[in-house]
Amino acid sequence: MTLQFLRVATHDGVAVVTIDRQDKGNALNAALIGELDCVFTGLATDASVRTVVLTGAGPKFFVAGADIAELDGASPAKLGATAAYGQAVFRRIETLGKPVIAAINGFALGGGLELALSCTFRYASSNAKLGLPEINLGIMPGYGGTQRLPRLVGRGPALEMVLTGDPIDANEACRLGLVNKVFEPDQLQDAATKIATKLASKAPVATRFILDAATRGQDLALGEGLALEAALFGLIGSTADTREGLKAFLEKRPARFTGA
Ligand code: COA
Repeated sequence: MTLQFLRVATHDGVAVVTIDRQDKGNALNAALIGELDCVFTGLATDASVRTVVLTGAGPKFFVAGADIAELDGASPAKLGATAAYGQAVFRRIETLGKPVIAAINGFALGGGLELALSCTFRYASSNAKLGLPEINLGIMPGYGGTQRLPRLVGRGPALEMVLTGDPIDANEACRLGLVNKVFEPDQLQDAATKIATKLASKAPVATRFILDAATRGQDLALGEGLALEAALFGLIGSTADTREGLKAFLEKRPARFTGA
């Protein structure tokens, strides 16, 4: 697929995916969602990629939301299908099996915040503004915002954001746990790449199992989640990386993980 709105650069096991539709605030039109689908499908099985950084081009916008021009005049059936497809693509990102770090370099509104919410965790620049302003358009979040935001920051703070539509700044987002860390704008990309490179050096199967346990566990009762964790803990013992990690510690040397 020829990419019109995404740039992908891979280095040292880290793929940096940049959303580049700057004349429209990097807004998510149907073509861009399709490109995300295609790119993340490829990243899932690309063994040379261990972690992903997702960011927006330019100094002002991460993503300003779903493309409002495309929503205008759409039938209920079309709106429902658009939401379902976007949700499936974002779910693919959430369940990629590799960490995906959102580097929020500016406005992350509506579908932009929902995209960031489907990532593993988020770093933000100090000028970022995060919000779900759909209510002000007479619509509601459709790419998972009503589900993932309350799970991440709690029902009260989430519903205040969704029902007022008011954006919050990066420091408030950090206080709520919506973003993990805040950086000066010119330091955000380096910080995100640095943490992604660190995560890329870890044992890939252990990383995948941790993500799987935490993501699936969110929908399970505690007993079932613990059973899942124990099953994966047993399974991981069959990997060469587990033997290497344990042996390296005992031999007082750094481990060399291969993904086997
Ligand atoms: N969909 C489509 N186009 C969008 C967009 C969106 N969600 N967000 C911004 N754009 C476009 C603008 O229409 C403008 O295009 P134009 O120059 O052809 O008119 C361009 O991106 C730049 O945005 P602009 O509004 O001029 O920038 P600003 O600095 O004045 O305001 C925002 C920035 C983020 C406050 C403002 O763009 C905004 O409110 N966007 C919509 C946010 C939203 O409601 N998202 C949820 C959508 S469901």
